[in-house]
Amino acid sequence: MPTDKEIPLPRKMNLVFGGEVNLDDVVGREALIEQTLSDLRHTSIIINEIRRFGKTTFLRLLETRMPDDWVCIRATVQDARSTTELIEWTLQNILRHTGAKEKIKAIISEVGQAPDNAKFNLGLLEFSLSAKHKKDAFATFRSVLKRIGEQLKKDNKRMVIIWDEFPDAIRAIAEREGERAAEDIMKFFRARRENEDLSSVRWILTGSIGLHHVMRRLSGRSNSINDMITIGLKPLEPPYIQWMSKCLLLGIGRDAQESDYLANMSGGIPFVLEMMIKYIRDNKDLALPLTANEAETLLIESASDVNLGRNWAPLLERVDSYYGDMAGLAESILDMVAKTPMEQPVICEALKNDFPEIERSVDKVLNLLFEDHYLQYGISSKLYSWKYEPLRIIWKSRRRKGV
Ligand SMILES: Nc1ncnc2c1ncn2[C@@H]1O[C@H](COP(=O)(O)OP(=O)(O)OP(=O)(O)O)[C@@H](O)[C@H]1O
Ligand SMILES: [Mg+2]
Repeated sequence: MPTDKEIPLPRKMNLVFGGEVNLDDVVGREALIEQTLSDLRHTSIIINEIRRFGKTTFLRLLETRMPDDWVCIRATVQDARSTTELIEWTLQNILRHTGAKEKIKAIISEVGQAPDNAKFNLGLLEFSLSAKHKKDAFATFRSVLKRIGEQLKKDNKRMVIIWDEFPDAIRAIAEREGERAAEDIMKFFRARRENEDLSSVRWILTGSIGLHHVMRRLSGRSNSINDMITIGLKPLEPPYIQWMSKCLLLGIGRDAQESDYLANMSGGIPFVLEMMIKYIRDNKDLALPLTANEAETLLIESASDVNLGRNWAPLLERVDSYYGDMAGLAESILDMVAKTPMEQPVICEALKNDFPEIERSVDKVLNLLFEDHYLQYGISSKLYSWKYEPLRIIWKSRRRKGV
């Protein structure tokens, strides 16, 4: 647990809800930063958490904490629609990185066109592979990376490449270029242990719902990226989320009497807290301060609020897009378990009329819901329940209202 010294005094904080929070306002991630930096020395990392949990914020912070002997390349690959785009984006980010030496830039310039440095704009795809190298973009990337790796070794440096929202890119590649192209990329990660040349390059792949689905579909195995470790972000510990709650309330001009109730209700998920405080800000007639019970009512009301609907949506969407023909069953299980924790046979019994084939697929779906952090499983109680209480509440109220 943090000491008082590590938690700053409460101050006014701007409400961001979904955008890019100022990194000075991010607390509670120092221990994980330390652990990640230490793990990166030995291995590559997967960060898999639910949507809006704080993955990108954590990566932005990590980027600022990388020691001088690391070159950190962070590319949001969510919108990459082809292998070429994925590679061009990544190489562009390496080119743009101030710590990437001239020799590395020269290696990249051999396979594509690098515009004037001054012309690089964030988000704009300006680096393009030459026609010859576009043909097999991933093979080009592998050989470029091998040479970069050799150069980094000479310079006593290492590189970490962060692909944020990697499953979305892999899924788009599988859809547009065929499963073979996506499988090629996955194979690369499986083979990395044997690939000595790349020992100075590490990866962080992040995903929310989707990573396991993508991996399973492409490989038939769930742990196909087997030489990477998976780390969880976990909710913020109480003292940090309480601090954040006080600061956000001060930021909307409230004194902070109910801040601990709100922090508690958010389950330590900053985004949930931000949304509740936005609801308070936008509903001036709310009677304040709140009691603990009223904080729960506020979460329920804000979850089904029309104006906030669009902001809440990402937290619980995508079941239908990733679970395919199991989506209906997955949603029904989430509905049932949102009412009360349940054992597997009870779930089967309750849903067998709607899903006659349930016996065949229930374990698979439960396992996916577990890996996607929706559900947890009690080994001694044998009960499945929602992993994060605020998400259970949000799911239940949004489903009830059909939003
Ligand atoms: N440690 C933190 N301190 C303060 N705010 C945070 C923290 N982590 C996340 N947030 C806030 O929570 C929201 C979601 O964070 P972020 O975008 O990092 O999540 P994400 O997991 O990358 O989401 P997505 O799955 O949509 O990409 C943002 O508004 C961000 O400002
Ligand atoms: Mg993100």
